[in-house]
Amino acid sequence: MKLSYLWHGPPGHPLHPPLTDATIGAYTFAFVAGILSKAGVAEQATAKAWWLALVVALASSVLTVTTGLLDWLQISRGTPLFRTATTHLLAMATASVLFLLAAIFGHRCYVSSDLSVGPFILTIVGFAALTLGGWLGGTITFVHGMRVLSLVDEPAASASSPLPSPREEDAEKS
Ligand code: HEM
Repeated sequence: MKLSYLWHGPPGHPLHPPLTDATIGAYTFAFVAGILSKAGVAEQATAKAWWLALVVALASSVLTVTTGLLDWLQISRGTPLFRTATTHLLAMATASVLFLLAAIFGHRCYVSSDLSVGPFILTIVGFAALTLGGWLGGTITFVHGMRVLSLVDEPAASASSPLPSPREEDAEKS
């Protein structure tokens, strides 16, 4: 059991991917609430929901970005995986800045329950960058296979245990 499991997660159970679910979910909620507000569906309520969801997503992204950066630091420089992961980083940094600007400039929209065009466009463009970054995140995992153990015959109990088996630790090293 290594101390670094606290910020990387143990073998087979990296921390970054589950955190991305919460962050992407909250940004997606904000995106949908913004569209509903501009479409006139419960306009005032959805304008407030849009801003609150952005703030929740930005708060959860602190942990998501931190764990992603810590995993990225472990990748060998100059490899195809490093190039994909660095492009993923740039896409997610762009999305995060756009959403942050939307939340800052959109605070008065939350107060007045009226979503204006500028923060709405920042949300749309931010969501496009988030989608690109999510695609590249999936590429890191499912194409390059980063941190995937592929222990098909690992017994179910040890595969799901938070304490890694020796086989899982060996697979993570290779
Ligand atoms: C809001 C910010 C971010 C989001 C929403 C996000 C999203 C994702 C997603 C969806 C995946 C695929 C996970 C899966 O297979 O289920 C992923 C993987 C990954 N991301 Fe991010 N990411 C973010 C920020 C970052 C940053 C700043 C870095 C630093 C380069 C980074 C590095 C990685 C790495 C290394 C992986 C491979 C899985 C792992 O070892 O953790 N991510 N990310």
